[in-house]
Formats: sequence, C-alpha cells, structure tokens
Amino acid sequence: MTKAKTIPTTQPKERTMLVGVEISGDEILLPLEESLAELYRLADTAGLDVVGEVQQKLSQPNPKTYIGSGKVEEIKGLIDEFQAEIVIFDNELNPRHQRELEKVFQSDVRVLDRTALILDIFAQHAHTHEGALQVELAQYEYRLPRLTRAWTHLARQAGGGGGRSGAGGVGLRGPGEKQLEVDRRDIHRRIDFLKDELEKVRAHRGRHRARRKKSRIPVIALVGYTNAGKSTLLNQISGADVYAADQLFATLDPTTRRVDLPGGTMALFTDTVGFIQKLPTTLVAAFRATLEEISEADLLLHVVDVTHPSAKAQAESVLMTLEEIEANHIPIVTVLNKIDRLESAEFAQDAIGNISDTVAVSALTGEGIDKLLPMVHKKLFESFSAIEVLLPYQAGGLTALFHEQGQVEEIEHTRDGVRILGRIPGRLLAQFRDYEYHPEIVESGEE
Ligand code: GTP
Repeated sequence: MTKAKTIPTTQPKERTMLVGVEISGDEILLPLEESLAELYRLADTAGLDVVGEVQQKLSQPNPKTYIGSGKVEEIKGLIDEFQAEIVIFDNELNPRHQRELEKVFQSDVRVLDRTALILDIFAQHAHTHEGALQVELAQYEYRLPRLTRAWTHLARQAGGGGGRSGAGGVGLRGPGEKQLEVDRRDIHRRIDFLKDELEKVRAHRGRHRARRKKSRIPVIALVGYTNAGKSTLLNQISGADVYAADQLFATLDPTTRRVDLPGGTMALFTDTVGFIQKLPTTLVAAFRATLEEISEADLLLHVVDVTHPSAKAQAESVLMTLEEIEANHIPIVTVLNKIDRLESAEFAQDAIGNISDTVAVSALTGEGIDKLLPMVHKKLFESFSAIEVLLPYQAGGLTALFHEQGQVEEIEHTRDGVRILGRIPGRLLAQFRDYEYHPEIVESGEE
C-alpha cells in the first residue's frame, strides 16, 4: 500500500551525462560500475534524463579539471552529440574543478557532483518544516564556496518550507529559475537565519522527545541503505501507510508508528533517512533530526536488501555511519529483506556474511514477520539491566512502570513496600536507582 505522491519533475527532463572516476589507492565501497549505477538511480530519482556515461581510472585527480585533459575533450564531444545540459560527477568535486570544467564545456552546461544531486533529491523529499530547513541550510553551505557564476536565485521564504520545490536548488533547479547572481552576504544572512530557526525547532523536538520518553515506550529505529525497504517494513508491521517507492531517499523525515510486540509490550517504530555511500559527513550531520531518532533508540532494525549485488558493502556502509554518529552501542537486529525475490530464504544470510541476530523477511509479502517481532521483543529485553528494588507503596507509579516496561522475575509485597527482582530498559534505570534493594545491608543491619 503506497500513498500517491506528486514528485516535482522538470519539464522537459534535463539531459544529463554521468562521469565516474576511480582513483587508484582510494578506499572504495562499491566498484566503479556499481557506484555509477547508483548515481544513475539518483539522477533518475531527481527527474533527470541520463543520456550518457563516461568512466576513467586515474592514479590521482587532475588538480584543475579532476579528470585528464583527453577525457575532458571526450566529454565535450559527447555533450555536443547528446546536447547534454548537466554533467554529474560521482566523485566530490571542489569548487575549482567545477569552475574549470564549466569553463571548458559550454557556458550553459552545469557541472555538479553526487553531493549536489543528493541535496536536490533531499530538497524534493523534505516535507516537514525541520526537514526543509535542514536541506536549505545544507544547500547554502554547499553553494557558498561555489559562488562564482550565476546560480539559481535563492528562495526567500522566511521560515523555510521551500524544500519541496528544491529550495535554492543546488544548481539543478530552483524557484523561478531566475539566474541571478547571489550576494554572498545574503547567503550568510540566510544561513544564520536558518541556523536560528533550526535551533528553535530542535528545542521543540527535544521537549517532544522528552515527553515521549516519559511515556516510557521503547523506541526502535529502522536504519538501512537507501531503498532497502524500511518504509515497506514499517507499513507491514504497523499496518500503516508510509510512503514507499522504488526511489532513493523516498523517506527523509522521521515517521513513527506504534506497534504491539508479542507479550503485550508496546513499541514505537521510527523510519529514518536511508544511508548511501559517499554521503559527506557534513551532509549526514545536517540530518540530525532523523539521526537523533537513531542515537536515542533502544534497538535498531537494520534493513538490508539481500537481493542487491552489493548488499554486503551497503550493510557495511550503514554500520560505518552508525559508528560515525556514535550509535554503534545500540543493539541491532538485522532484517534480511526481499526474500520473496530469492529462490530460497536460506540464501539470504549468504548475502551479508557473518552478521548475527538476523531474520529473513519479505516486507512486501509479510513472510517472516512472525519471526521478526518475537526477535525484536527478545532483543529488547536482552538489553535490559537486571535490578532489584524495594518500591514504597506510595510510589505505585513505579510499580506499574516496572510491570509495563520491564520484565518482572520475582515480586513480593513486604511491610515496607513491593520488592521486585527483574530487568528494565537502561533508559529507566535512573528512575529506579534510589529504590535499589540491597538485602545484605538490611540483613546485616538487623543482626
Ligand atoms: P529510502 O526511502 O530510500 O530510505 O527507502 P526505503 O528503505 O524506505 O525503501 P522502500 O520501503 O521505499 O522500498 C524501496 C523499494 O523496494 C520499493 O519499490 C518497495 O516496494 C521495494 N521493496 C521493499 N521491500 C520489499 C520486499 O520485501 N520485496 C520486494 N520484492 N520489494 C520490496
């Protein structure tokens, strides 16, 4: 069940050439071919028409044009032949490369890189106020050092909200397409404004999250490489209607749904932005809203598309990002997704190798979900801390809380209160610390 959604497209689609460069000695996650295939999907998601693709292997980038001069000429010829309007590099270009290349190509050919393309897609998919602000800020920060030619004019919508239409468009598109030279100072002012606004929104979010924490419901964050099937899985387990599409980064803003786990425990499942290789850390940092959801979760569901030829590399890239955002201490259940496309579910584990706590499912058909939820329940409780407390009768709320969120192993009604031995989620420990029961102290005191 997917929700119908209008994705803004450019009419007519802009003709685009893709360029992928492999620098020998550089650590790579995906082979050049596959990285370019991913770039192709990104371009397609952004609504561009890919008309050609060029590859080059180099020992090091050319300081001026990134690629060698022969390749520059070859691309120039192809631009003429296919009447390309945009050239997108799979590698991160510095402003000088971009300038030099645009100079060599025709004046109206725009040279962009993977980051700019991802920003543009993010701009199309950010639907909340905060998401739109984040994208706009990231776009301006990307654009600032590149302010040498006529960029699309800024969208001056105080308070953001322009993300949907590609706010400020990183050179791909933008409101009005006015092609005005943008004043640096304007951008600085806008950046300051966006930062202030974001702080306000975040403070509000923080309060909201604190309230949610008080509601003591465990939070499970779905993480995974883009297009792995997180939204489809959230729909499947919650019966909800989250937008899922065969597109990269269909989900940008966190979506949260309540789900009953076996045994009656309730949990909040939250969908997060998809990860992708070569996503600059600064860009990752820009999506703090969804990342905060991850780092404060009680458990992570790492969704992997096991039918993807680079499933293992994708999974590794997600684990690396989790480390970068310091979320690698949170317990993980790995969901081997899309098994309906495999000959046998037994092959699912082969795709990712030696990762434990896995469950093979099809988020689409629902196969395996009956095994996933008990596993989530088990893992959640495994990560709980053992504690023994003596709760005075006037602290009845805590007794109820232990029952709701913890696992009671022993309970005794004594003269001084309710003694409970059991396990509770780490995030609740602080509330119970003052009531910790130490029988040896009591006993020795009585002697
Ligand atoms: P991002 O928003 O990019 O992070 O993607 P996502 O991880 O939320 O993926 P989404 O749920 O949007 O699914 C991506 C595509 O994979 C959609 O076309 C889904 O229909 C498809 N898909 C998801 N799960 C399955 C599955 O179990 N089997 C099959 N065959 N397709 C699936």
